[in-house]
Amino acid sequence: MKGIKLLCLALGLAAFSACDVGEVGDEDGNGSGNGNGMGGGQTFTSMISPLVTGCVGCHGGGTAPNLTSFSALEAKYKMKPGASNVLATKGDHQSITYLTTEQRATVAAWIDSLP
Ligand code: HEC
Repeated sequence: MKGIKLLCLALGLAAFSACDVGEVGDEDGNGSGNGNGMGGGQTFTSMISPLVTGCVGCHGGGTAPNLTSFSALEAKYKMKPGASNVLATKGDHQSITYLTTEQRATVAAWIDSLP
């Protein structure tokens, strides 16, 4: 539930009026995104990018997932349900500490919010 709240907050900051996750696709389709297309670009920038700054050194193109932008991120990491997507379920690997439980919930909620 915390993730959903964060999502609403992020959407609010992005000046969307709706807080209904189901409407994100419509809201994002009106040209207010960052040019990434397909919807989700703006929320990727506001919700996911800040969480993955320590990941892009490795996941910047060579190794999937490509976490540099919404359009670069492979389709498999946008597949619902978010809670079982590997982006939310993956744990520590390659000697790095993975996202916290809270951050993984945000990732899951973000995936579920995609059109
Ligand atoms: C030191 C380099 C490195 C860093 C930093 C790193 N990763 Fe990875 N990641 C890898 C490699 C290599 C793999 C593939 C092998 C494995 O799973 O261990 C991988 C695999 C993954 C996978 C599974 C991909 C799949 O399709 O199965 C996910 C999801 C992932 N990383 C997310 C992240 C996130 C999110 C972060 C930041 C919190 C991160 N990684 C940080 C190197 C890294």
